[in-house]
Amino acid sequence: MKHLLIPVLAATVLSASADEAADKAKLIETGKANFATCMACHGPDGTGLPVGDKKMAPTLAGSKVVNGDPAVFALAVLKGIQKDPANTEILGVMAPLEAALDDEKLAGVLTYVRNSFGNSSSVVTPADAAKYRAQFKDIKAPVLRTDLEKTAAKK
Ligand code: HEC
Repeated sequence: MKHLLIPVLAATVLSASADEAADKAKLIETGKANFATCMACHGPDGTGLPVGDKKMAPTLAGSKVVNGDPAVFALAVLKGIQKDPANTEILGVMAPLEAALDDEKLAGVLTYVRNSFGNSSSVVTPADAAKYRAQFKDIKAPVLRTDLEKTAAKK
């Protein structure tokens, strides 16, 4: 019996990871298409569109918000970031994008950015995206960059 069980177990494990890889590839494809929403400010390569010697938005490559707790990243994208008038190097405003991205698209964009531009972080599923949207539903205004982590940590 043992000699039969081992290949069956191995096949189950292999097909589970093949499913995960397929899900990730699909999310990245969706995210790449929807990254058009972000490009106007963050640029096609995610490093921030240059305007003279300033930028429309900061780089997403190596960003702590992008690569840390996905709840923080989701909060920034869903609700936007309140503009810091002291930062004159960045010309754009991170607007709330919750209306533009359903759970599938949000999960795609987060997964794509977390796995592009040199980033390599975990997948965010549509179920995670739905959870973050519900968690932050009562937040009605963009959050200060410096308050993102503590706001996301509140239940
Ligand atoms: C209209 C311009 C604009 C668009 C569109 C935009 N952003 Fe931003 N984004 C900004 C600006 C400006 C900031 C800096 C905000 C601040 O810190 O004051 C920012 C900040 C961020 C940050 C925080 C980065 C860090 O390390 O502090 C993330 C993450 C981010 N944006 C992701 C996205 C994603 C993903 C999209 C598309 C779904 C997007 N943004 C669309 C302008 C934009």
